[in-house]
Amino acid sequence: MTISFARLDPTGTDRVDLVDFMARNEFPFHVRSRPTREQVEASIAEGAFRDDDNDSFWIEHDELGRIGFFRLEDLTDGAPLFDLRLDAPFRGRGLGQEILRAAADHVFGTMPEVNRFEGQTREDNIAMRKTFLRCGWVKEAHYRQGWPVDSGAPVASVAYGLLRQDWQSGQTTTFEWEDLAV
Ligand SMILES: CC(C)(COP(=O)(O)OP(=O)(O)OC[C@H]1O[C@@H](n2cnc3c(N)ncnc32)[C@H](O)[C@@H]1OP(=O)(O)O)[C@@H](O)C(=O)NCCC(=O)NCCS
Repeated sequence: MTISFARLDPTGTDRVDLVDFMARNEFPFHVRSRPTREQVEASIAEGAFRDDDNDSFWIEHDELGRIGFFRLEDLTDGAPLFDLRLDAPFRGRGLGQEILRAAADHVFGTMPEVNRFEGQTREDNIAMRKTFLRCGWVKEAHYRQGWPVDSGAPVASVAYGLLRQDWQSGQTTTFEWEDLAV
């Protein structure tokens, strides 16, 4: 299986497909789980898919074709975050791991100034959390009640990170979570 990223043009040739992708899928673990076409169009106009901080890509699979959407965020920070959304028919098939590995190759392979790659998800997004762990990412924060939920109580937001040195070596460096004795 080979994964590649095709940089998309959110205000030009990819606009229609991008609006369609976002509006026809459900994203149960995103703050906005059912974006409307109007909301996606407004986000495009605000530069949320491509500006200094953001860049977006279609995820292409060599046999399955276009399987999802990937965005790099906080690009001016030196430690980018990402947003990964598979098209519904391609979820639950183990594809996320290969994509996250390809994403790390893209970030560390094309951005020499980047030393850390970061990701954040809800505590109940088990598929994404397992994907992080299986790709050697380390849990670095657990923000209790940090993720607002429309229909109920807030859940925790969990942050993961991957270091360039770990990407290079294939070894996960960890740390002692509670390193201070009181
Ligand atoms: C999150 C996402 C990228 C994961 O990729 P994926 O290819 O669908 O994930 P996988 O199929 O490899 O699933 C990973 C594991 O989670 C498990 N899992 C999934 N949902 C689960 C649930 N509700 N409870 C328990 N385990 C669950 C799967 O069974 C699998 O474990 P297994 O291999 O031991 O069976 C993809 O599902 C997706 O795009 N979801 C919608 C958007 C999203 O939430 N993106 C994350 C934002 S950063």
